[in-house]
Amino acid sequence: MKRLLGECRDRGLCGGGKVSRPPSRLKTDHGAYSVSLPFQSAMNIILKRIRQRLSPQSFPDTAEELAKSDLFAGWWYYSVELLPGLITKGQYPDSFPMLPRILLRNCDLRGTTCLDLGSMEGLMPVVMCRQGAKAVLATDAIDHCRQKMAALRYYYKASFEFQQVGLMYDLNNKLRKSGRSSFDIINLSGLLYHVFSPLMILAGVRPLLKRNGLMIVSTNVVVDDSFTMQFNNAGSLQEEVNTFWYLSVRALDYVLRYLKLAPIDCLYISHRDIKSSVRYVTDVESGYLSVVCRAKDDPIASREDTWMLKSAQHSWEYAGLVDWDSCNQQAVTHVPYSATIEKNLLRDDTGTVDLLRALSRRTIHQAERSSDAHVLRLADIS
Ligand SMILES: C[S@@+](CC[C@H](N)C(=O)[O-])C[C@H]1O[C@@H](n2cnc3c(N)ncnc32)[C@H](O)[C@@H]1O
Repeated sequence: MKRLLGECRDRGLCGGGKVSRPPSRLKTDHGAYSVSLPFQSAMNIILKRIRQRLSPQSFPDTAEELAKSDLFAGWWYYSVELLPGLITKGQYPDSFPMLPRILLRNCDLRGTTCLDLGSMEGLMPVVMCRQGAKAVLATDAIDHCRQKMAALRYYYKASFEFQQVGLMYDLNNKLRKSGRSSFDIINLSGLLYHVFSPLMILAGVRPLLKRNGLMIVSTNVVVDDSFTMQFNNAGSLQEEVNTFWYLSVRALDYVLRYLKLAPIDCLYISHRDIKSSVRYVTDVESGYLSVVCRAKDDPIASREDTWMLKSAQHSWEYAGLVDWDSCNQQAVTHVPYSATIEKNLLRDDTGTVDLLRALSRRTIHQAERSSDAHVLRLADIS
C-alpha cells in the first residue's frame, strides 16, 4: 500500500503529483483571468483528469513498443503477460499460490453476476470474465490502477466495470446507489487484514450476495485454538503499514457462520512456505486462508452454542450494521460449486467445514503452475 500511495502520488491522484502546464492564455492574460495560483493549479489537475478520462486509451501493439513503455516498466501487483512472452514483474514470487483463484474454478460462473473487492490491476475480474460471467464489477478504494486495469481489458479483451468505493465500509449502500447490489458470486480477498474493522467490512458486503450465492473470503490468519484477532503491534505480524488484524481460524469460521455464510471449502498456505522479500513469518503460526461460503437464510450455530442465535435476534449491532432486509429480498441463485470436501472435515452438527480441522488437509505449499499463482497469462482461461 505504501507503494500504492507512492504510485498514486506519482500520477497526481493524491494532489501531490506533477501538474500539467496551464494553457498559455491563462499565463499571459492576467487581466482577463485573475485567478489565484492554488485555484489555477487545482483547475489544471481537474482538467487533466477529465481529459485523461475522455481520451480513448491506446496501448502498444508491438513487443518493441511495449517493452519500452512506462506501462510495462512500472510497478505491478500481479505478473501479467501483456503480449506473448512479455510479462510484467509482479510483486509476488511465481511459486506463491493465489488461493481464491484456484477455488473460483470450482464455481460455475457462466451467466453469473460477479463482484470483486480490492481488484488492483484486475486479475480476478479477467478470470471471472473468461469463465463466462455475464457481468463483472471490479472495485477498489481509489482508482490507482486505472491505466493498468485498462491495459488488462485491452490485451485480454475482457469487459468489466470498475467502481471506486473509498474505504470498503458500508459497501451495500455505496453499490446500491449506483444500482449494482446483487451478485451471484463475491470475491473478498486480501482485504480483511488491511482494515480497522474486518467485521464491519463483512457486514457491508453480506447484503450484496444473492440468497444461496457464493462468497470467497480470503485473509491472513493465526493458527491456534482461540477465537481472537491478533493486532499487528509494532509490525510484529507484517511490516506493511496498512496491515492491522489477523483473525484466528476459529474466529473466522465463527464470524462467517454468524453472518449466515456456510464454509463449504477452503485452501490454506502457511506463511512459512512463502518465499518472498516481504517478512511474513513470526513467532506465531500464521498463513493465508481462503474459504468458499454458501449464503444461508439463518445463522449456523453449532449444537452446543446457544449464544449465536440469541445474539442474532437481539443484538443491536447485528440488526443495525447488516441490512438483513436487503439480504432477505435478494433473488435466489443456483450457482453450482463442483468440489466436494472430504466428509470428515465437516462438522456433524452444522454440515459446514471445520476450518481448523481442515487446514492440514487443505494446505498448498506452492503453486505448481503459473495459472495457480499471481500470474496472468494470455492463454489462461481461469
Ligand atoms: C493485498 S491487495 C489484494 C488484491 C486482490 N483482492 C487479491 O486478492 O489479489 C489489497 C487490495 O485492497 C485495497 N485496499 C487496501 N486497504 C484498503 C482499505 N483500507 N480500504 C479499501 N481498500 C483497501 C487495495 O487497494 C488493494 O486493491
